[in-house]
Amino acid sequence: MSFNIAIDGPAGAGKSTIAKNVAKALSYIYVDTGALYRAMALHFLRNHTDSAQENAVAAACADISITLSYDEGVQKVILNGEDVTGKLRTEEVGNTASIVSAYPAVREKLLQLQRDLAASENVVMDGRDIGSHVLPKADIKIYLTASSDVRAERRYEELRAKGITCDIAKLKADIEERDQRDMNRDIAPLKQAEDAIYLDSSNLTISEVTERILELVTIK
Ligand code: DC
Repeated sequence: MSFNIAIDGPAGAGKSTIAKNVAKALSYIYVDTGALYRAMALHFLRNHTDSAQENAVAAACADISITLSYDEGVQKVILNGEDVTGKLRTEEVGNTASIVSAYPAVREKLLQLQRDLAASENVVMDGRDIGSHVLPKADIKIYLTASSDVRAERRYEELRAKGITCDIAKLKADIEERDQRDMNRDIAPLKQAEDAIYLDSSNLTISEVTERILELVTIK
């Protein structure tokens, strides 16, 4: 039996960094499920499929094949045979992923892939609906959040470190808009699973949150 840790929460709460650290400490596989939705979004953007048109997006799902591979524990996303890992972290791809992830056809396409991986490997899987929908029986469920001010500041610093200048107020507005969409969609919305542990990272460092999660694994 594999051991599964689910970490859900809104954009910018620190999920991916923390999930990666936890996975590394335990020698588990880190699964970034947002990257799967982003790969679908990249395909729709490249093919000029209008993300506002659910029928067009649903029809285009048939042309997509997504797989994951791991190279020394680092996740690679393969979209129709192409490694697109380096092309997924733009704001445009993230916003499109948030829009199309509300459509059942997109979510269904990715559900089994995530479940199969968790059934065969020890994983730390991060996303929006992992504890509530994808892995309802996960051994440990965390709902990781932070205030939208803190999340916008973190994103601002992340972009600035890459030499990208941006408006922090616009980043905050985009984050709040994304939260609204992710939390209010009909299917598998972002929400805390009943048995998930709530962690607010606004005033905690990455290593403090990582340590708390590792403690939970130890006492499990
Ligand atoms: O975590 P992220 O920013 O890479 O995710 C991009 C979008 O994908 C997010 O706004 C909503 C969607 N998503 C989802 O619906 N379910 C998941 N498990 C992960 C991401």
